[in-house]
Amino acid sequence: MKQKKVFVCQECGAESPRWYGKCYACGSWNTLAEEAIKTEGAGVGVKFKPAPSEPLSLKSITSENFSTFSTGIDEFDRVLGQGLVPASVVLVSGSPGIGKSTLLLQTAGKLSQKGQKVLYITGEESIQQVKLRADRLKIDSPDLLIFSETNLDDIIQQIEKITPQMVIIDSVQTIYNPEFSPAPGSVTQVRECTAMLFRLSKTLGVTIVLIGHITKDGSIAGPRVLEHLVDVVLYFEGEGFQNFRLLKAVKNRFGSTQEVGLFEMGELGLSGVKNPSEFFLAQGSHNLSGAVIVPVLEGSRPLLVEVQSLVIKSSFGLPSRRATGLDSNRLAVLLAVLEKRGRLPLGGSDIYLNVAGGLKLEEPAVDLGVIIAVASAATEKDVVPSCFMFGEVGLGGEIRPVPGTPKRLSEAGRLGFSRAIIPASSLHEGLKTPKDMEVIGIDNISDALKNSLKGVRQ
Ligand code: TYD
Ligand code: MG
Repeated sequence: MKQKKVFVCQECGAESPRWYGKCYACGSWNTLAEEAIKTEGAGVGVKFKPAPSEPLSLKSITSENFSTFSTGIDEFDRVLGQGLVPASVVLVSGSPGIGKSTLLLQTAGKLSQKGQKVLYITGEESIQQVKLRADRLKIDSPDLLIFSETNLDDIIQQIEKITPQMVIIDSVQTIYNPEFSPAPGSVTQVRECTAMLFRLSKTLGVTIVLIGHITKDGSIAGPRVLEHLVDVVLYFEGEGFQNFRLLKAVKNRFGSTQEVGLFEMGELGLSGVKNPSEFFLAQGSHNLSGAVIVPVLEGSRPLLVEVQSLVIKSSFGLPSRRATGLDSNRLAVLLAVLEKRGRLPLGGSDIYLNVAGGLKLEEPAVDLGVIIAVASAATEKDVVPSCFMFGEVGLGGEIRPVPGTPKRLSEAGRLGFSRAIIPASSLHEGLKTPKDMEVIGIDNISDALKNSLKGVRQ
């Protein structure tokens, strides 16, 4: 077998015949490493060659729905769409210790309890370590097979022999194809192994879940190319959430990437958070000046969070502005709007903003809450009790509508909030509002200040 030496960028997977200090494709420095690429009789294309087929006219193709099977974990199913699709490849990535192995072992446990065969390949931990975790999670099923192996040939052999419903590979960075010389975890190995497993999944109809690590800057370790090779890419994250974890889809060939799964890590592994709003509100302070309740949408699900602000006189010439859970640039824009349109001088103040519970908010719906939280902290006027608000704020100080008004109102109503401050244009005749809720439509910042802060002239 002929081998060709090339230099591969460990960041983006681009190949180059020579070494350069800077990758020509992604611009990162010192990421090119020498790897041997097999050129003749390359395994990927040969071993699982798809059956030759003719192009079909679109009209002649009958559409069929994807059949799915449940993972047995509601929050996991929610992120995937309805569940796992047979013959698909899913990549679950996240930082070390976040709970990837736990999530997949729990899924394996649920599926095998229902009598489906699951093969869990552990390249990172010994079978004793997996057993220990399984004991802790109370998983004990004869249909769950654990295999400690990193050689791709042996892994494929076992998958072909057992033909399980689902295969879990923990992790894709530990397995290697012996036909290639680079070490496991290198771009070539990860890419070739994934491509091979992808074909295997399509030919045998098994669902393969790959666990992947992420690097310090948050991308999947080694190649981004991996994301293009699989059907679904999920990120498991949770820094700063204590025991709280979020499962997000960044790519999904079978469904939306809008849904988010919410988990809590406990003594007995991961469990779905049943009442996320209550969870986040419990982390807040309530009824202090500078604290505002905002209903945000995480996927299609409404969540109530508390936005907190602290404003103090700056001791230095250059005031400090810090935001946790919100984009700092967005905060700077909103402060400028508040100063100019709300006529609130903030130039000599240090301003801190925090989203209680550690959630990161990207929705513009949170703008109004941020403005009122800062105004309340700066003027030391409390926010009207039982009040919540949402809306996008424009540079002219105008309040713009955001999607999902009924969902946001009903979630706040469910938790006993009775005064809603929303964009006036969202308050149309057909809008269903919860019983006993006072809904106030506002057009601009000064209306918002009058209606939400105690003691501001009505
Ligand atoms: P793990 O699944 O090993 O993370 P990853 O595979 O992403 O590296 O999870 C590790 C953490 O989860 C570890 O700090 C211990 C914690 N954990 C619990 O709190 N409860 C449990 O029941 C289990 C199994 C783990
Ligand atoms: Mg692990």
